[in-house]
Amino acid sequence: MKKISSYLLICFTLVACQAKKKNQPQQEKSTIGVISSNGSVVTAHPLASQIGVDILKSGGNAFDAAVAVQFALAVSYPRAGNIGGGGFAVFRNSNGDTGSLDFREKAPLAATKDMYLDKDGEVIKGLSLKGSLAVGVPGSVDGMVELHQKYGNLPWEELVQPAVNLAENGVILTKFEADKLNTFQENFKEVNNTSIYLNNEKGWIKGDTLYHQNLASTLKRIRDKGRAGFYSGATAQLLLKTLKKHDGIITQGDLDHYHSVWREAIEVPYKNYKIISMPPPSSGGIALAQLMEGSENYDLKNSGYNTAETIHIMTELERRVYADRATFLGDPDYVEIPQEMLLSKDYLRNRNSSILPGKATPSAEIKEGKVDIIESTETTHFSIVDKKGNAVSITTTLNGNYGSKLLVEGAGFLLNNEMDDFSIKPGHPNQFGLVGNEANAIEAEKRMLSSMTPTIVEKDHQLFMVVGTPGGSTIITSVYQTILNVIEHGMTMQEAVNAKKFHHQWLPDQVLIEKGAIDNGTRNKLKEMGYTLKDVKSLGKMEAILILPDGTMEGAADYTRGDDTAFGY
Ligand code: DON
Repeated sequence: MKKISSYLLICFTLVACQAKKKNQPQQEKSTIGVISSNGSVVTAHPLASQIGVDILKSGGNAFDAAVAVQFALAVSYPRAGNIGGGGFAVFRNSNGDTGSLDFREKAPLAATKDMYLDKDGEVIKGLSLKGSLAVGVPGSVDGMVELHQKYGNLPWEELVQPAVNLAENGVILTKFEADKLNTFQENFKEVNNTSIYLNNEKGWIKGDTLYHQNLASTLKRIRDKGRAGFYSGATAQLLLKTLKKHDGIITQGDLDHYHSVWREAIEVPYKNYKIISMPPPSSGGIALAQLMEGSENYDLKNSGYNTAETIHIMTELERRVYADRATFLGDPDYVEIPQEMLLSKDYLRNRNSSILPGKATPSAEIKEGKVDIIESTETTHFSIVDKKGNAVSITTTLNGNYGSKLLVEGAGFLLNNEMDDFSIKPGHPNQFGLVGNEANAIEAEKRMLSSMTPTIVEKDHQLFMVVGTPGGSTIITSVYQTILNVIEHGMTMQEAVNAKKFHHQWLPDQVLIEKGAIDNGTRNKLKEMGYTLKDVKSLGKMEAILILPDGTMEGAADYTRGDDTAFGY
């Protein structure tokens, strides 16, 4: 305890000094996260963070806590937490071993390349986003079973039970949750052809209790039967019945075939750090690695946080990386990805040699295309470190807010709309404005390309940071900035999480600027360089943990952008 308070004193002094440095962000509230010695859990919802830390306290490791948190978020944070979706885990064990688990959804066996096109080859609006045809075969439950079987300590039942309790006892809605549910009331009715338990004629308000009775029964089946509690038996029957009623194409064969995949993590050095992130079918790891490697050739520390010069360099790197993403990346089980080339220093040096000081390169000169961003979305990330130093970084999603909005009748859970992450027609933008080609075309049982970037950073071969965020296409650039904010701009973990962000993704050719990220002088300089700027309310919703020099942990939740909470002990 004494150690912690003296640390805090040093930190506050440090923070006060840092505030005087060039271009440090102004923080209204806390500039330091939650300091703990034995474990840290950072999630998008306080109930899930509490459950995670309780599991650590009762002798569970980071993997046990991750499983409990995944199920707890499925109840407390239904817009993104899920059992009807998928995700990715990146981990680093206390002995330094690293790896990843891919529990991304898959295209159904009956899926075809042109399934979202009409007879003239035009995209049928909304078909890949809402209702039964938008649904990929869910991976989350299989993923949690795999993670627990390989690395868990505590009995499975003990990890699912807290979510059962939440579902049965009800969850008191926060303002964020009530507002979000209200936004989608009509969508729920339209997609399900009826009101569902998430509808409330009077509208939800903060303090209302939302009971999840059917979900509780489903979670009990998962608790008692593991994988079989979801992919066969009563849950599978209810899932298939709902999909059939809504003309879906997923069958029992799809559920039987679904298996998550252990994959080697993407690992690249950055100075005396190592970036460990998610390989394909996420584009996140390769793109982040390209950005970090590209950044090594510039003195971003000296050019400063969110200055015109820094934003210019980072934007130009992003533009080129996202163009590569659209062309080369897809499910590695289906397409050949030139991973080694994309990450090689020679390739990157050559690729980035066209970056000119003080001048934007138009995206049309990098590659052609025209796109727009359509819908608001949600995903969720959580970061966990246990007493021994095992670290787990998980990003999980239904894709859009509440996914396809289709609820499994009698089973109480929502199904994802992950099929929209495929390139449903070459060059046609998905809901994030991302374009793609053959590499990410739909095929039976293929996984759709993702941007999710659960990441772990080592410093001098030791665990240093666990980080990730939702945000669709903006995930990669938010993780990139957050890492640099700590490493190059000397921020605490909390400052880096709170810091205002920007984003460029090649197409559309514009820089998204989070409200408050830059002043007018910087804005004008960027415009003079040739950039089109677009202001957005919010970018990133980071959940991160930093290991401090004395071995304690700083858990930093994105509390300025949501209900996100860090707990430690
Ligand atoms: O896998 C992907 O990249 C997307 N389905 C993630 C969606 C997302 O982050 C939405 N969140 N804000």
